[in-house]
Amino acid sequence: MTSRSFVKEKVFLLFSFLLAASAGNFNQDFDITWGDGRAKILGNGQLLTLSLDKTSGSGFKSRSQYLFGKIDMQIKLVPGNSAGTVTAYYLSSLGSAHDEIDFEFLGNLSGQPYILHTNVFTQGKGNREQQFYLWFDPTKDFHTYSILWNPQSIIFSVDRTPIREFKNLESRGIPFPKDQPMWIFSSLWNADDWATRGGLVKTDWSQAPFTASYRNFNAQACIWSSGSSSCSSNSSGNSWMRESLDTTGQQKIKWAQKNYMIYNYCTDSKRFPQGFPPECSLA
Ligand SMILES: *[C@@H]1O[C@H](CO)[C@@H](O)[C@H](O)[C@H]1NC(C)=O
Ligand SMILES: *[C@@H]1O[C@H](CO)[C@@H](O)[C@H](O)[C@H]1NC(C)=O
Repeated sequence: MTSRSFVKEKVFLLFSFLLAASAGNFNQDFDITWGDGRAKILGNGQLLTLSLDKTSGSGFKSRSQYLFGKIDMQIKLVPGNSAGTVTAYYLSSLGSAHDEIDFEFLGNLSGQPYILHTNVFTQGKGNREQQFYLWFDPTKDFHTYSILWNPQSIIFSVDRTPIREFKNLESRGIPFPKDQPMWIFSSLWNADDWATRGGLVKTDWSQAPFTASYRNFNAQACIWSSGSSSCSSNSSGNSWMRESLDTTGQQKIKWAQKNYMIYNYCTDSKRFPQGFPPECSLA
């Protein structure tokens, strides 16, 4: 073997190791929580599918709880006529004063656009919806949906393009999720009373089962266990903990909001006749 091909081989080995290390394994990281066999982990833990039929949907939940993290998931949404279906992928704590960070994908008739619905709950209170169309067909391929959650802000991204930021404005009296660890949840269910064109288009059960697929879960995150964080002793390795939007990121959010946002609670004056929530004027 020449030294050059030796080096190449070493680089290749190192690279495959890094890929393997970052890909995550659904068997280790998640539990299927409901759906009576409709959720499946395949390919040695590399792929997870959820399905929905007339009897039931299905869902899964992370084994770990996280208190801050940079969490990526690749999702391929229900193809074809997915009207009436909702694929939810979110972080949430439990209880009436829970915190929650949501991605929800509202299906549509074949060829009609999905809606990506986002929300942030703090201490049990949500009502912070923003909705977007996507700039690609999310049923043709896997795309990466990411949540960066650190003490300064929550940033939602799609294929690394930030689309929404919820800043920590605690100093202005707006609660921010920072004390309650959250699990990752996902589920596929029927919501044809509201999901597609506000409930006008119903689920076509002759198309069932409906299936959404997940792969390449990757969490750089602080795992919460028995009252302590895996990050608390030494967080110098976690640069995502200090990450914030740079100018390019801010421009990308503006681009996404200008071209793809279809609903923003901060401009819905019918809904807030007494005035918009305070973060709307501070964001
Ligand atoms: C479905 O398609 C219709 C027509 O293009 C559009 O108005 C609607 O926003 C789309 N998405 C959903 C989830 O209703
Ligand atoms: C934290 O970790 C870094 C790199 O792993 C190390 O260089 C540093 O000495 C550690 N600091 C403390 C306070 O343990």
